[in-house]
Amino acid sequence: MRNFTSVNDLSPSFGGSLKGNERSSGEAIDTLVQTALACKANPFADKTLGTNKRIGCLFLNPSMRTRLSTQIAAQNLGMEAIIFNVGSEGWALEFEEEAIMSGNTVEHVKDAAPIFGKYFDILAIRTFPSLKNREDDYSELYIKQFIKYAGIPVVSLESATLHPLQSLTDIITISEELAKPTPSGDRKAKPKIVLTWAPHVKPLPQCVANSFSQWINAWGKADFVITHPEDYELSEEFTKGATITHNQEEALQGADYVYVKNWSTYNDYGKIYTNNPKWMLKEKRWSLTNNAKVMHCLPVRRNVELSDEILDGPMSIVTQQAGNRVWAAQAVLSEILRSNG
Ligand code: CP
Repeated sequence: MRNFTSVNDLSPSFGGSLKGNERSSGEAIDTLVQTALACKANPFADKTLGTNKRIGCLFLNPSMRTRLSTQIAAQNLGMEAIIFNVGSEGWALEFEEEAIMSGNTVEHVKDAAPIFGKYFDILAIRTFPSLKNREDDYSELYIKQFIKYAGIPVVSLESATLHPLQSLTDIITISEELAKPTPSGDRKAKPKIVLTWAPHVKPLPQCVANSFSQWINAWGKADFVITHPEDYELSEEFTKGATITHNQEEALQGADYVYVKNWSTYNDYGKIYTNNPKWMLKEKRWSLTNNAKVMHCLPVRRNVELSDEILDGPMSIVTQQAGNRVWAAQAVLSEILRSNG
């Protein structure tokens, strides 16, 4: 693996017909999940893999989990992690080719990225969408320009449209849960996983929902349902293959995992159309599920996006999920270190 910006970076065969001994997308995800779980079981087994290597973590936006888990993962592999809050501490970067830089931007990514390439062995970047222009955000210009000009492997710490380290974490967490014995000893052939929209006070990116949909579809091991109010459709590029319904109660029936997340509108881009509190998951609606585990990427607005009774109840696995961010990052960094020398 050279870069890690979406599920498609795991295997060149994703989305196409398989040839010879190429792995399916589900197998490639499972292999990475197993690597992550091995890291969790023995965090320091590869403590010299990254000796004398350095990762630069560039943050154009705030973060808690992504920042700390990536730092810890790098340290577990013997690698030095340097954090640079470009958004608040660095020069304002320009990303457009042939830009006439007479405005607020001070340094072009064409000049900055090759320097990062000299200082670091891996570059990791967090950048959010503007939510003003869908075409611009979905072009993923920022991360693509870093890949083009840095000359070293690039890891997405969340981009304008995707959050792959979060999605890998989510599948690690579901896989851990699926490996636990059930009270009856029976297990469905495919768990029912529901991604449900939740209310929020601010327009949020579609990254986590897009990415979760992309990874669960590529994994191919779940009965996957997405539920949201009308006009909150996500891009079909990521949701194709899932069942989509505007009826949350119907979606929750028999669910084994419920992933709660707000996102702003995709078609009339970056808007809030409704904040209907009925969409906030409470125990009454949760009781329609098959004793489902409830997930959220965090941070979460309590009693707006998710109720206290769910977050503080035994059905919530959000802390386990956030803890697993370390092992997702460690699995990805170790794969990149192994394949790029
Ligand atoms: N889930 C997540 O990416 O958290 P942070 O924004 O705190 O990194």
